[in-house]
Amino acid sequence: MLASLRTAAVFGVEACPVHVEVDVGFGFPCFTMVGLPDASVRESRDRVRSAIRNSGYEFPPHRITVNLAPADVRKAGASFDLPIALGILAASGVVERRLIADFVLLGELSLDGSIHPTRGVLPIAAAARRDGLSGLLLPFANASEAAIVGGLDIVAVSSLTDAVRALNDPAGFRAAPPASSASPAYPPLPPRRETPPDLADVRGQLLPRRALEIAAAGGHNLLLVGPPGAGKTMMARRVSGILPPLSFDEALEVTTVHSVVGLLPAGGGLLTDRPFRAPHHTISTAALIGGGSQPRPGEVSLAHHGVLFLDEMLEFSRHVLEVLRQPLEEGRVAVARAARTAVFPARFMLVGAMNPCPCGFSTDPSRECRCTPRELARYRERLSGPLRDRLDLTVDVPAVPIDVLGDDDARGEPSCSVRARVVDARARQLTRYAEHGITTNAQLTPSLMAAHCGMDRGALRMLQAAVRKMALSARGYDRVRKVARTIADLAADDRVASDHLAEALQFRMVG
Ligand SMILES: Nc1ncnc2c1ncn2[C@@H]1O[C@H](COP(=O)(O)OP(=O)(O)OP(=O)(O)O)[C@@H](O)[C@H]1O
Ligand SMILES: [Mg+2]
Ligand SMILES: [Zn+2]
Repeated sequence: MLASLRTAAVFGVEACPVHVEVDVGFGFPCFTMVGLPDASVRESRDRVRSAIRNSGYEFPPHRITVNLAPADVRKAGASFDLPIALGILAASGVVERRLIADFVLLGELSLDGSIHPTRGVLPIAAAARRDGLSGLLLPFANASEAAIVGGLDIVAVSSLTDAVRALNDPAGFRAAPPASSASPAYPPLPPRRETPPDLADVRGQLLPRRALEIAAAGGHNLLLVGPPGAGKTMMARRVSGILPPLSFDEALEVTTVHSVVGLLPAGGGLLTDRPFRAPHHTISTAALIGGGSQPRPGEVSLAHHGVLFLDEMLEFSRHVLEVLRQPLEEGRVAVARAARTAVFPARFMLVGAMNPCPCGFSTDPSRECRCTPRELARYRERLSGPLRDRLDLTVDVPAVPIDVLGDDDARGEPSCSVRARVVDARARQLTRYAEHGITTNAQLTPSLMAAHCGMDRGALRMLQAAVRKMALSARGYDRVRKVARTIADLAADDRVASDHLAEALQFRMVG
């Protein structure tokens, strides 16, 4: 009496098919599992046994062997409980076997037979669709996540008994999947959009606001430098509110990363807000970049298509800042493991905030800076040259005078109108790069830049002078041209002119 079922494991952000084979044979009663290197899966044996009994079925008093194949796919987590339990019930004749073949079964069981949500359902559903399978049988709370993919029958269950009933009732199983199967209905989609704080709250600060807008318009990295209380954190938190909405494909990628980390709200569907991640400066490299024996995405991937905000940037360890270089350059992170390498997407906008010196007041004309030149030099060194090069725009954020803070007429332009300009500038980039597989100026490669960042003669001459005077590195040179391209896009100009370039150079950090 053999039953074979499909389930899946997630490696990185990709799903790997896993087959569960259950053999119930005569012999001394025992329950063995093979193909499971992970301790957490072994515990599933106890959960499966209890769940079957507590759901009112007989746990077969026979020799039970469960094999999870292929053996070289690392299997961690508890989502194999449900297919294993259903396999045992199928092999012992309780569950109709024929219907199982085309479905992917997933779910963690608790001892009483109820089913808990599981991680990584979105990539698993996408793989099921690619492999031409009929659908998924999974925990109720994961149903809307699976439904994002479309074209699949989704059977959502909340207990082992539900699952058995669904498998034994072909009509309910196939004909009208979500609503009429075991579960009465999908959980409703929660209202997704949280309103981010608005730029209208920021008084004065015209230059930093302009830098924010340019950075958002081209997907560039931004560093805010200023004394304590100047409003750096306040402004950085308002960047997501001026970014354009995610496209469907981007939303899928963002949701997939959150799905494998288990960060999707229960019952939620596609994430439609651009991520804003602000890790604390004590974060480890593994938590920032991703890692672990079963590789998990880090903050840089959770910030994919959104913003990674490093507040008090120089408080982060030098090593942590250095490992940011790979994702900043490539838009992805590779986490190498003995058997395979997991690749996580990590295309984010980096926003950093820092004080100009250890005491914080060297740029503040109304306060005295007490730092020695040596302290100052050591402080600046913490931001290495290569990382500094990647910060496309650096802007001084001065303390706003009290009278401006109290002046209601000094309220800033609201985020929605800034966002409208950003959306227009991004639309120009999308059209221009449609054939090249990129979406923003920040992603321009040198060869695309040659084709698309045409400068007029005045701009070229200015750039050559700047390279000499400002000792721009090759990377700095490229990045200035990209920012100038974005400034031209904000002005709806097809060519980069000298005033666009001048403005880009003004935001280039010197020293
Ligand atoms: N331009 C501004 N308009 C309105 N409020 C402001 C402005 N600048 C600062 N504030 C007020 O001051 C508070 C402190 O600002 P914020 O925490 O952003 O400063 P910061 O530059 O990050 O300082 P620190 O270096 O100490 O982290 C804000 O919460 C806000 O209430
Ligand atoms: Mg701050
Ligand atoms: Zn100082």
